[in-house]
Amino acid sequence: MQTKRFIITGDEKHDRAIYEEAAALIRAGELVAFPTETVYGLGANALDGEAVKKIYVAKGRPSWNPLITHVSSREMLNTLVRSYPKDFETLAAKFMPGPLTFLLPKTDIVPKEVSAGLDSTTVRMPNHPVALKLIAAAGVPIAAPSANRSGRTSPTTAVHVLEDLDGRIAAVIDGGTCAVGVESTVIDIMQEPPLILRPGGVTKEEIEAVLGRPVSVFKKSAEGTDDKGLPSPGMTLRHYAPNAKLINTGDTAESLFSELETQLTAGHKVGILLPSDWKLPAKQGSSKNVVIYDYGSWTDWQTMAQRVFDGLRWLDKQGVNVIIGPLPPEQGLGLALRDRLIRAAK
Ligand code: TXA
Ligand code: MG
Repeated sequence: MQTKRFIITGDEKHDRAIYEEAAALIRAGELVAFPTETVYGLGANALDGEAVKKIYVAKGRPSWNPLITHVSSREMLNTLVRSYPKDFETLAAKFMPGPLTFLLPKTDIVPKEVSAGLDSTTVRMPNHPVALKLIAAAGVPIAAPSANRSGRTSPTTAVHVLEDLDGRIAAVIDGGTCAVGVESTVIDIMQEPPLILRPGGVTKEEIEAVLGRPVSVFKKSAEGTDDKGLPSPGMTLRHYAPNAKLINTGDTAESLFSELETQLTAGHKVGILLPSDWKLPAKQGSSKNVVIYDYGSWTDWQTMAQRVFDGLRWLDKQGVNVIIGPLPPEQGLGLALRDRLIRAAK
């Protein structure tokens, strides 16, 4: 299959033709990758079980790992959701559209291929004009996991999508680089206290500030490799992995540079996710076995989150066999970054 590449230019007539063609592909049961504010999604008509099955095939995703359905309006959301728990309106007023995904009781129109047979389903309204226009043009909700091969690094550009899925999907819409860079936060508000199933673009602190009370975060089992049957299937899997071996170091320059020395001594070519304000010692900096990716300023978690997946992919392309980088503390977006980096290093 030849994968079409549609490029959004900002020219209204040109872009409208793209949305119409891509929407027609979605309605015909084909797969179209598209940008959201978090990462690129691999979309299919969420009401068409046969179309949704193609997502699992293209990605190589286990069939028990359910999908998020994306909507462009509240009316569309209402067709998917049976009832709303009390905190929904409070959170939706602030984070919809946005990188917050709700686990909610589903209606019968959501096929089992989307919910993996569960009675609840995850929904979100992305805060990205291209995603919203595509969904509205299709006139159907769009089920979409991240547009990468299962287990691999999530895509934040159309080029990343094509690296993994060229020839396996009908089209990709190129709408530039994603702003958030890590996936949405998935929250279960059917329980008390609400439970964050996956940390992501909306932070725990932001959610607690809006709700006015603490929420909890799902703690993964230490060595989950097959987490079929967990409250949120897919949450402890090895994921986001580069080809090179990823080693997470402590959150200081000393810790990072000492790991670098160890890896260089062992003869490895080492890629570094390097905070821009950490200066590499001269000897290591001049080594031909060191490749640096500019991670953004340490404590600027927003920039680091936006760059992390691009950094892992770019370092892989430089032919390094080890990648090292510091693990941020468990606060703000640091929580989502840690989750991705720890799973990528498994
Ligand atoms: O930012 C995002 O959320 C991106 C963009 C494309 O919207 N999508 C994304 O989808 O990250 P995916 O499939 O890679 O991750 C969705 C996660 C799954 O790992 C799954 O564990 C959880 O959400 N999930 C989905 N449906 C669920 C359900 N019915 N019950 C529990 N967990 C669910
Ligand atoms: Mg994913």
